[in-house]
Amino acid sequence: MTQFLANKHILLGVTGSIAAYKSAELVRRLRDAGAVVRVAMTENAKRFITPLTMQAVSGNPVHDDLFDLNAEAAMGHIELARWADLILVAPATADFMARVSEGHADDLLTAVCLASRARVAIAPAMNQGMWHHTLTQTNLQALRQKSMIVLGPASGSQACGDIGMGRMLESTEIVEQVSALFATGALAGQKVVITAGPTHEAIDPVRYISNYSSGKMGYALAQAAHEAGAQVTLISGPVQLPLPMHMQVISVTSAAEMHEAVMKQMSDCDIFMAVAAVADYRPQTTSPQKLHKTDEHMTLQLERNIDIVSAVTNLPNKPFVVGFAAETENVVEQARAKRTRKKMDMIIANKVGDGCGMGTDDNEVTVITAEAETVLPLVAKQKIARELIELIVQEQKAPDEKSTHPGYAR
Ligand code: PMT
Repeated sequence: MTQFLANKHILLGVTGSIAAYKSAELVRRLRDAGAVVRVAMTENAKRFITPLTMQAVSGNPVHDDLFDLNAEAAMGHIELARWADLILVAPATADFMARVSEGHADDLLTAVCLASRARVAIAPAMNQGMWHHTLTQTNLQALRQKSMIVLGPASGSQACGDIGMGRMLESTEIVEQVSALFATGALAGQKVVITAGPTHEAIDPVRYISNYSSGKMGYALAQAAHEAGAQVTLISGPVQLPLPMHMQVISVTSAAEMHEAVMKQMSDCDIFMAVAAVADYRPQTTSPQKLHKTDEHMTLQLERNIDIVSAVTNLPNKPFVVGFAAETENVVEQARAKRTRKKMDMIIANKVGDGCGMGTDDNEVTVITAEAETVLPLVAKQKIARELIELIVQEQKAPDEKSTHPGYAR
């Protein structure tokens, strides 16, 4: 999924973090994907990696001085700002985030960020304490509000010995995500409605029936659809995820609420993705007061919830419908049967267990349509989401227009 980088002009900003040693590899990978790369370094970045290295790997002179007359004569900061299709700052330190969020322009990199109309993506890298600090988080929110794209950071062991959030993403992941930024357009003009997360079916004011869905898969798909240019409405059950930007988010609690919210969106919906793990049953009655224990055993009477995806596929002008099936055994067989029974155009057979399925960061799925089955091996849910969007775009095309996705088996 790095083909969208072909011939793109990427200005890589490197700031003063130990993770700067990874920037050389990042340049190589960007160039392997077809991008043309120029590098701008801060003074502190040069303490961690030499301009000579960055020049050698990028094949272009390094830009490092806002006031260098020779450099300005060759390609000044305004030309550089115009040249870039995307400014990628990796690693981005806490200090860089603070300065750029306040609109500083006292060195080459911040000046280019301010002058450029290109999108700016940052891959933060810092100690976990610095990352979690209120000031950094405030700057992060400010940058997001200014449409700056934030890649990562990842969590794990750090150079200082700490363990936690703040590691720069690996080069491969950064290149994938940057490539996806250029994939906009595949769903341009289309309205995509996505359900995500679990539903809570109330027993009484303090208890409910639910499942382990975290919403990660649905949120990743909503993000990927947005990156592909779609107008996205995300209908979310109760989850602990940050509110996504640039899309309409409707929060619901129960299956009945989710059903109502979905149906309201269907008149102009082009693609419906039912990713939510909707409770099949709900308590027949919800006690208005907290229930107290009395007998040794307790029986809950449950009744069926409405099947939301079937309600959509039975509409006279139904959208393209993609469902999911989370299964622990006979995964593909069960998914195939569900696709037929619920009249879905595509179903994603989602194995649960072995590090994928509910609550996990990664996933492994089989994409099933009437004519094809495609296996997407275990990777991050964000990556699966981008691949799914690609497959959906392919599937919407007329049969003779369908091109060859690497994993597309017909
Ligand atoms: O949220 P995560 O932690 O990231 O996990 C993602 C996931 C595993 C929940 C997701 O990838 C997934 O597989 N979702 C479907 C869960 C499931 O098992 O669905 P189901 O087999 O009960 O239903 C099949 C399809 O019908 C689903 O598209 C579901 O959204 C839909 N459905 C089900 C019941 C119902 N009352 N209404 C529905 O629309």
